Amino acid sequence: MSKVTEKQNICTQLAMQCKAIQGIHMRDLFMHDKERGKKFSRQLSNLTIDYSKNLISTDILKLLFQFAKASDIETSIKAMFDGDKINVTENISVLHTALRSDVTQKLNIDGIDIIKQVHDELEKMQLFVNSIHNKNHKGWTGQPIDTFVNIGIGGSELGPKMVVDALTEYRQADTRSFFISNVDYQSIDDLQKMINPETTLFIISSKSFSTLETKTNADTLKEWMKESGCKEIEKHFIAVSNNLVAAKEFGINSENVFQIWDWVGGRFSLWSTIGLPIALAIGFDNFKTLLAGAHEMDEHFKQTSPEDNIPVILALIDYWYSNYFDAETHAFIPYDESLKLLPEYLSQLFMESNGKSANLSGHRIDYKTMPVTWGSVGTNSQHSFFQLLHQGTHTIPVDFLVPLTKKGNQKHHALLLANCFAQSQALMQGEDNSDPHKHFAGNKPSTTILYTELTPKTLGSLLAMFEHRTFVQGLLWQINSFDQWGVELGKKLATTIFENLNSQNIDEKLDSSTRNLIELYKKNQQ
Ligand code: F6P
Repeated sequence: MSKVTEKQNICTQLAMQCKAIQGIHMRDLFMHDKERGKKFSRQLSNLTIDYSKNLISTDILKLLFQFAKASDIETSIKAMFDGDKINVTENISVLHTALRSDVTQKLNIDGIDIIKQVHDELEKMQLFVNSIHNKNHKGWTGQPIDTFVNIGIGGSELGPKMVVDALTEYRQADTRSFFISNVDYQSIDDLQKMINPETTLFIISSKSFSTLETKTNADTLKEWMKESGCKEIEKHFIAVSNNLVAAKEFGINSENVFQIWDWVGGRFSLWSTIGLPIALAIGFDNFKTLLAGAHEMDEHFKQTSPEDNIPVILALIDYWYSNYFDAETHAFIPYDESLKLLPEYLSQLFMESNGKSANLSGHRIDYKTMPVTWGSVGTNSQHSFFQLLHQGTHTIPVDFLVPLTKKGNQKHHALLLANCFAQSQALMQGEDNSDPHKHFAGNKPSTTILYTELTPKTLGSLLAMFEHRTFVQGLLWQINSFDQWGVELGKKLATTIFENLNSQNIDEKLDSSTRNLIELYKKNQQ
């Protein structure tokens, strides 16, 4: 039987299972199988994943694993770790896992010792970070640096910003971090009121060093530094880039340009030198621990059979909802203030990776791929959009994330947990009421991701788990999770529109809506 026929057969059986399970309530599944909670849970170190409150059964999972096998996911996982050029539209390897590899590992790609390259750059990073923390690196007036400003956007901001925020407890004493991304001048205006130019270090984080927002913000802040009296720009600006020439042209000393390679995708890059703001904020040792946590998940992902492989299981459940239940969105709700920026980071990770409609062979596909990924912190969201989760008309799978232990007032912590567990229980079991306004249908799917205290190691594992889940989703949908051509058109058109905003005339070939918008802008400048 050909692979295509085999997959079609599995899909037909999955469609039948989907119909069947819709006739059963999840609370009955729990009633008939007292072990369901444990049976559909997996653990790795500090992480426990309970996926039992999903619309699944042993038979459904069996079919999903068959589908994963027929999709050759194990071969593709190996290909990624081996450095095969699996980003086929750009003909490059995908090696974020090498960034957190052990120094003793070996990986040669095109005659280059990748692991050595990574560890050499880590060493350079460590020396720099230490020179800031031990106050050897000084600003132009001889004062040590105490403020770090990352200038970067997308993958060159979201990961580091989220990690720095999540690990505030580990922050280096008497230091502050800021992240500037939007080209909206307001953020620079606000920043300038909060920082002292004499003690500030700017990190220009841009793999390409050509991103409009980052270049514009970096130029503006360089001018501001000069206006503030700084005559030694090189003491206050460093760069992380794959474009060493452009970084040097900006005025950065070559020893302060930290390399990122083409095989590190933007949204998978926080483990690379793009993580410099993390290391500056929490210290290099903690940064290494974050990498170690991710490495542990890498090893689990690489070595564990699909049936026990956490990222694989989660990706299969995602595929199940998207392709059989027409789930259009997926919510991520951290019951943890430390992870309040996680939903935004995940939006880029999932949607920039898998928001695609062409398959690996370049053909348009006729099935659904990545749902909209969104979310916000619990318990707050219970008082905003949870109404829709409980009584709305859409199927919205939810991932709850919650720490088992947290420092501080334990009454608060127990209440936080109680609310998280109650929400997944309420979504699952519902409550019958003859008044439709007060009726809770239940049977709403969720997964609960538990972790012991949010340490750098746990966070590393958690984030690597999401990265691998993203990759496996892409394999199931047969798409390339590692390019992002969809962001290019808007960038190109913005350049033309910017020219029109600044010229006397407006291009007649523009559509009437865009012309009107430009005219309105011009009228308001007079
Ligand atoms: O516009 C999308 C994107 O290319 C992302 O994929 C990337 O993370 C971001 O822009 C920033 O790119 P760079 O690091 O090259 O400035």
